[in-house]
Amino acid sequence: MYPDRVVSGMRPTGAMHLGHYHGALKNWIRMQSEQPCLFFVADWHALTTHYDDPSIIVKSTWDMVIDWLAAGIDPSQATIFIQSKVPEHAELHLLLSMATPLGWLERVPTYKDQIENLSNRDLATYGFLGYPLLQAADVLIYRASQVPVGEDQIPHIEMMREIARRFNHLYGKEPGFEEKALEAVKKLGSKRAKLYAELRTAFQQEGEEEALQQARAMLDDAGSLSNIDRERLFGYLEGSRKIILVEPQVKLTEASRLPGLDGRKMSKSYGNAITLREDRDSVTKKIRTMPTDPARVRRSDAGDPNKCPVFQLHQVYSDSETKNWVVKGCTSAGIGCLECKQPVVDAVLAEQEPMRERAQQYLDDPSLVRAIVADGCDKARKLAQETMRDVREAMGLDYS
Ligand code: TRP
Ligand code: SF4
Repeated sequence: MYPDRVVSGMRPTGAMHLGHYHGALKNWIRMQSEQPCLFFVADWHALTTHYDDPSIIVKSTWDMVIDWLAAGIDPSQATIFIQSKVPEHAELHLLLSMATPLGWLERVPTYKDQIENLSNRDLATYGFLGYPLLQAADVLIYRASQVPVGEDQIPHIEMMREIARRFNHLYGKEPGFEEKALEAVKKLGSKRAKLYAELRTAFQQEGEEEALQQARAMLDDAGSLSNIDRERLFGYLEGSRKIILVEPQVKLTEASRLPGLDGRKMSKSYGNAITLREDRDSVTKKIRTMPTDPARVRRSDAGDPNKCPVFQLHQVYSDSETKNWVVKGCTSAGIGCLECKQPVVDAVLAEQEPMRERAQQYLDDPSLVRAIVADGCDKARKLAQETMRDVREAMGLDYS
């Protein structure tokens, strides 16, 4: 019932670069074959900072989806969608906002940081303060178990766990909970019921986390249960409340090892990036004009690879044989810098070749991308609607 689902989103902020590929995207690509994954374009999140020019967001959204597909996100494995096309996110955001203390939002470290960093924008808005709460809705609405994100997002995930806990606490109580839970236990069948009772005791009396996990897995498997009974039994494992929203875990994305052309972190704003589908000539030129160890003024001057951003690229793209060749050639002035850069040029072009190929079909026929996204939106909406039904019911808003 609550499969090990992965949810992550990215704001559409223009063409993606190789730093994104070596950070987040590779991670997503690995996960898509292991678990059900939902990846979405967080266009509403982009609006919180770029509300004055939504047209850029729309264009960037399509570019970004093509970049994802080019990089190898496979729509037959992962669900790709656009946040604003699943308006249920907004409904959950609104409902959660009612019980979210202002202090929780004001204390999120990115809030003050961003207001200071983006001082050219007026971010003293209601929408921007709510950014992490909208993010909570994005994840909780799919009852995701894991959220692959970078380190900067950890406080957001922690906050969404608190939001889920608070929601369950406020709305998961029901009169006669224990009796209803015990009725539900019977529906498991005698063998499973016995196991459930044992695991619950092991968790509640000995604090065995493993027993909790095992019991949850068993409930996931138990086809005879209705959703509501399953929520009760999840909740009864831990206490006296139904579990309506699931607390997700962070799945930390390692920072990209790929530096930019000047050795600093690759970033569009530093002007040191190579975009995912950049054309070959431009890539070649950018690498050939990269700065090198400043000590190598002339070809005959020896250099130190550790003072050279090109060598950092070799660390990502080259095997040890090539790296040895660089070290030897550089420190003895045996090779020139252009010669040294050539294997990097070749490796980057080779990495991008399949991406350019995959992208081409979508550029030739944009309706393919539209269809993939429409299909993903439908799938996501179905899941979101299921959760919203339970959420409304738990809050007594089902008016039935
Ligand atoms: N805040 C995330 C970022 O800046 C983007 C995002 C929005 C997100 N909603 C999400 C990430 C839900 C993970 C899950 O990178
Ligand atoms: Fe850098 Fe290679 Fe030139 Fe040495 S030879 S300075 S590692 S580009």
